[in-house]
Amino acid sequence: MKRLEDIQILDNVPVLVRLGLNIPLVDGKPSSTFRLRRALETVTYLQEKGARVIVISHIGRDPFATLKPVYEFIRTQIPKVSFSEHVTGPQVRDRVSMLMPGEVLILENLRRNKGEVENDRDFAKELASLADIFVQDAFDTCHRNHASIVGIPEFLPSYAGRVVCGEVDELKQALSPKRPSIAIIGGAKFATKEPLIEKLLHTYDRIFIGGALGNDLLQARGYPIGRSVTSGVTGSLDKLAKDARIIGPVDAVVSSTKGGGLRLPNEVEEEDMILDAGPATVEVLKGYIDEAKTVLWNGPLGYYENGYKEGTHALAQIIADARTHAIIGGGDTVASIESLDLEHEFSFISTGGGAMLEFLTHGTLPGLEAL
Ligand code: 3PG
Repeated sequence: MKRLEDIQILDNVPVLVRLGLNIPLVDGKPSSTFRLRRALETVTYLQEKGARVIVISHIGRDPFATLKPVYEFIRTQIPKVSFSEHVTGPQVRDRVSMLMPGEVLILENLRRNKGEVENDRDFAKELASLADIFVQDAFDTCHRNHASIVGIPEFLPSYAGRVVCGEVDELKQALSPKRPSIAIIGGAKFATKEPLIEKLLHTYDRIFIGGALGNDLLQARGYPIGRSVTSGVTGSLDKLAKDARIIGPVDAVVSSTKGGGLRLPNEVEEEDMILDAGPATVEVLKGYIDEAKTVLWNGPLGYYENGYKEGTHALAQIIADARTHAIIGGGDTVASIESLDLEHEFSFISTGGGAMLEFLTHGTLPGLEAL
């Protein structure tokens, strides 16, 4: 994989850069700027070298979603940046031809064109025709077979940007953890995380399974889980459930028509819904984290987006205080760190959610292979 620094000449060269600008918006404003701040490292480098920079990215899954609010944030961070309401066509080509060295043009949401998610060759070719060099820096989307991820590198000399290189270097290390080690996997969708959990069992001393996945684990271990959300998987989970290196919640915050509260796993009633890890679970995790030399964490411990954040926040604080080597990723996980203002307490925070999990599972991603 060739890196940004391998590009010999950048002065006055049009460079197409795929960034990871997919961030949540609340009331039309970025509610998390972590990915944006990271993305700007590569742009600033290219600007300083005098490149004419064309930025492409997607935002959200709604094809009408706009990158305009992201542009509004970026223009407060770097100079000489403008926005195109089009993704392709003559207007875009005109704007690109007028770019001066060090200037940046951000194109509208790539997913406005269905060629992006369909990995349409002509769409990729048209984007590629805007520049002489392509820089891939959207690590968060490198697990997608989309035009801007796997299509464009067929048409242009292609390089990995700062974010991609940092992620690959760091996540590779996470695959060979220093011991003792603990991986904490939360969130939902067991089927998508199961291959990773199986893989981590070869290298990590302990794996904690929490969030909605923790409900699956408790169920597989024969505990009642009431009305709690599960992934609905059975079978393969039974093997993991018997493995003593896999640890799950030892208490839970529940809501119920009879009023909520704290429960031990064997106390969960039919009406209960498990919504967060309780303090005893957090304490168990603290014990492992305090002695760990590597902590890998992806996914919240509770129903984070619905306000059940306490377990996740407590965990973020414990990992920050432990000052151990921690590799962290996932939307809600990073949101918890940002909201607690703990970002600078961690050695590495991944910009990837699904991409981080897939890289750890397979050791590579389609977008990296394309480079
Ligand atoms: C992410 O946030 O995981 C990436 O930006 C990819 O977005 P997607 O899941 O909509 O493809």
